[in-house]
Amino acid sequence: MHKDCERILISEKEIRKRIAEVARSADEKFKGKCPLCVCILKGSAIFFADFVRRLTVPVELDFMSVSSYGSGTASSGKLKIKKDTDADVGGRDVIIVEDIIDSGFTLSKLKALFKERGARSVTIVVLLDKKCRRECDISPDLSCFEVGDEFVVGYGLDYDERYRNLPYIAVLKRGIYGDGSQPLKGTPNSK
Ligand code: IMP
Ligand code: MG
Repeated sequence: MHKDCERILISEKEIRKRIAEVARSADEKFKGKCPLCVCILKGSAIFFADFVRRLTVPVELDFMSVSSYGSGTASSGKLKIKKDTDADVGGRDVIIVEDIIDSGFTLSKLKALFKERGARSVTIVVLLDKKCRRECDISPDLSCFEVGDEFVVGYGLDYDERYRNLPYIAVLKRGIYGDGSQPLKGTPNSK
């Protein structure tokens, strides 16, 4: 295990097994359709690559990069699109693939945006659900694992752009991200 991690929360093997199960559910749901799978960069890149390779229905892949600002509370923040999808989502069945849902702000804004653009349906698939921190009225349609109020890294998730390449999901040592005096989104002391 990496020296900056406190403990491994979910192993490579568990991740692989669960993604296969979730992909089977998605396959069932989209039988006879060709959904547009949208990877929300950068956190979901690794999950996305593994998830889409487990699907057997035909799919198209697209990529989007967003960041949220002024997030004090979930409802007051703004979503900034840094990179938009290439495809027109009008009339499409969209699957948003995200690494983690925390307050739910990012995904509720994204879902509303795709609806506004005329998507036929919007399905949310997440690797991790930090349910206990939810501030928006939204839940993922498919989720691989529920996690508690701890800051996790690995398998795409970062702290300050690092640890994304760890093959497992681990709890980062508190000493690495400080004592909570500087609020970091997703950490136990932040909102
Ligand atoms: P939300 O808009 O509050 O749901 O925030 C989702 C985003 O917060 C994710 O895409 C991550 O970038 C970040 N985040 C929340 N919790 C964690 C964590 O434990 N580790 C790494 N990133 C996190
Ligand atoms: Mg993210």
